[in-house]
Amino acid sequence: MTSELERLFEHLRFPSISTDSRHIGDVRANADWLKGQFEDMGLETKLHETPGNPVIVACNEKVEERPTVLIYGHYDVQPVDPLELWDSAPFEPEIRDGKIWGRGGADNKGQHFVHMLAAEKTMKQNGELPLNVIFLIEGEEEIGSPNLVPFLNQHKESLACDIIAVSDTGMVAPGVPTLGYGLRGITCLEVKVKGPAGDLHSGVYGGCVANPATAAARMVASLHHDDGRIAVAGFYDDVIPLEDWEREMWSKVPGTSDEDFLRTTGSPEAFGEPGYSMAERLWARPTVEVNGFGSGYQGEGSKTVLPAEAIFKLSCRLVPGQDPAKIQQQVEEHLRKHLPKGVTVEIHNGHSGKAYHNDPHSKFGKAAQAALTTAFGREPVLIREGGSIPIIQDMKEVLGADSLMLGLALPDCQIHAPNENYSVENFEKGIEMSCELLKELSKI
Ligand code: BES
Ligand code: MN
Repeated sequence: MTSELERLFEHLRFPSISTDSRHIGDVRANADWLKGQFEDMGLETKLHETPGNPVIVACNEKVEERPTVLIYGHYDVQPVDPLELWDSAPFEPEIRDGKIWGRGGADNKGQHFVHMLAAEKTMKQNGELPLNVIFLIEGEEEIGSPNLVPFLNQHKESLACDIIAVSDTGMVAPGVPTLGYGLRGITCLEVKVKGPAGDLHSGVYGGCVANPATAAARMVASLHHDDGRIAVAGFYDDVIPLEDWEREMWSKVPGTSDEDFLRTTGSPEAFGEPGYSMAERLWARPTVEVNGFGSGYQGEGSKTVLPAEAIFKLSCRLVPGQDPAKIQQQVEEHLRKHLPKGVTVEIHNGHSGKAYHNDPHSKFGKAAQAALTTAFGREPVLIREGGSIPIIQDMKEVLGADSLMLGLALPDCQIHAPNENYSVENFEKGIEMSCELLKELSKI
């Protein structure tokens, strides 16, 4: 194994799960380790405390007349459950079948680490970097980056840059370099439906009071029409429609036909808003999804209980034009309007982020396309992404810079799921791509 891979493995061994307070020490240990890596590279490095997890900023010495690229990534990861579905331990990385298996491999440690290695390699070869580089690696992306916007505002001057490079997105198929020029936004809600004061015997009391599980199911069901369209009033009002040139361009992107998506998802059939391909639904249309639903007895056999409450968690993916706060309010109003008789409801608003999109043909976009072409030996495809990285739009608003999304995660990388993996080939080509990107951006 190469020493670069060994170092990535060290990074992957930290269980830096940001949503789980039991891992707060692991998150910090990971941040300290990253700081050491940047220091060893010879960059000026600072671990900044925030009310949550630390932010690492590392940069070379600034030369006024040179352009500045900010390279963003996140060292926090998603939880690993259900643990029993992993073929190898999530925090004991292994290589099998040309892939690195472990939590954070693709999302996002393996992807930002290629940029660190590329900067290191360039400095070893040339004694310096050809432009100003600022690394910004945070530890709260998977929980909506609650402390990063204030941080950006506080450090606006030192984080000033011309362009941002981010590898935290997907590549449509092996060997097909992919430049992302859009992301969906997100807004989350948590709903608690309450009935009786406590669980009841479903025979002794069943039929005379409302069942919160039934009520919650009706509320969830009310969110969509049968054909997949969202039934929340006003939900689509501000959506900027998909352009003909995008539909045309996307129809030719390899690995993204309906058949391809059916294969990677393992679903029996496509389903969603009528009139759109699966790729169009993913990249340009909004959603309401149930992420969790719980009530009553889940164990073996039967237990005749009338549960006291039910909960469900929703997230809406948003597209350019939609305002997360307005959508959250519309969904909340919808749920209150569709509240069945006999129960009460509590609605908690979760985190939000706006959608993002840029011009892939800008001078920066062209530089990114050139770097991808050199590293992968063919021209990149241009796509928007279904996932969200809310801080990218925030960085646009606070720092005024656009983000190039140089995705290195393959469709079967299983991010957020058991058996997350990252291709060794993309790790190696990613380093080459980032070396080229530094060169291309230095010419701007
Ligand atoms: N890297 C992902 C987002 C992503 C994945 C974008 C693949 C495009 C393609 C990121 O780490 C992520 O998971 N973001 C969260 C949002 C956050 C606010 C919880 C998401 O999209 O669910
Ligand atoms: Mn993620």
